[in-house]
Amino acid sequence: MLSQLVNRCRPLPSGSRLLILGQGYSGKTVSQLFQSLGTPVLGTRRQANQGANDLCFDSDAGIAPSLSEIADVTHMLSCIPPTKDGHDPVLNQLQPLLRQLPLRWVGYLSTTGVYGDTGGQWVCESDTANPSQERSRRRLDCEQAWLQSGLPVQILRLPGIYGPRRSVITALQQGRARLMNKAGQVFCRVHVEDIAGASLHLMHCANAGQRPQIVNVCDDHPAPSSDLLRFAASLLRCPLPAEESFEDSHEGMSAMARSFWSENRRVSNRLLRQHLGYDLLHPDFHSGLQDCWQQDVSQVETFSDSQSAID
Ligand SMILES: NC(=O)c1ccc[n+]([C@@H]2O[C@H](COP(=O)([O-])OP(=O)(O)OC[C@H]3O[C@@H](n4cnc5c(N)ncnc54)[C@H](OP(=O)(O)O)[C@@H]3O)[C@@H](O)[C@H]2O)c1
Repeated sequence: MLSQLVNRCRPLPSGSRLLILGQGYSGKTVSQLFQSLGTPVLGTRRQANQGANDLCFDSDAGIAPSLSEIADVTHMLSCIPPTKDGHDPVLNQLQPLLRQLPLRWVGYLSTTGVYGDTGGQWVCESDTANPSQERSRRRLDCEQAWLQSGLPVQILRLPGIYGPRRSVITALQQGRARLMNKAGQVFCRVHVEDIAGASLHLMHCANAGQRPQIVNVCDDHPAPSSDLLRFAASLLRCPLPAEESFEDSHEGMSAMARSFWSENRRVSNRLLRQHLGYDLLHPDFHSGLQDCWQQDVSQVETFSDSQSAID
């Protein structure tokens, strides 16, 4: 729950101002945390909603914020993925503008997909990236471009992002969940509120002189997707979908799904947790899915119960 995070977080020093490029699922949660802590936030979308803090940035349409709109930004987080041809939309269009800002910290949300397949072994930031998918090779190129940009950049490598309205709970409710098992296969994940909490923590660390170039932001507990599905079904008290054998289902999978199942790795968060001292809000999927259930389901039920009482 974001309120839990807000209660234990220290705001940025006064005078700080955050720009979030790509205020989608993760960007919005980061924005909510910082605003709750009193830090002014500007955010971009491709179609801005015209709110006071809402700016328009669309690299395809060539629409970008002006210098006067973002002139006093001190911290920036890019949540925008690479273009199909492998370029970073932000660096492509905004780099000269960004160089004119008084930036103290620039975060780039990347993916742990750059590590490729480790056959289920643990992997950490000092290991050589070994992407096996074309999209992960493009991502690694973008990471390099950010690191060479001359800005005070930190790369946050993320595994699968989940949270309210985007988890196996949602998939079960919508009838999209599939119960599949492949021997030895695990997936790593991070709750979206931990992306927000870790971003703030990393800004504080950078302010105190600690800014490793690359940090994995993931929970403690890589696990098979079937474990999550079973736990989610127990929270929802609903039946599990019929179990499918991985071998039988593989043929009918989308190319994207097949690529996910083709890589098996355990991503270490030791740098984030032990060296930099970030305390995860959701160290494993039990805590994280319980939170999704509370935010997605039990609050809706409580609301409709109280509505019925009023009606
Ligand atoms: N989803 C995952 O499980 C996962 C895992 C690892 C890493 N990541 C990466 O982490 C980052 C954040 O993920 P997310 O799931 O929070 O992303 P998201 O909800 O899809 O948000 C992406 C944002 O980028 C903006 N955007 C996309 N293309 C753009 C362009 N050409 N010009 C300007 N803005 C553009 C979108 O604008 P609109 O708001 O207008 O759509 C949106 O605000 C992404 O880079 C993603 O690839 C995601």
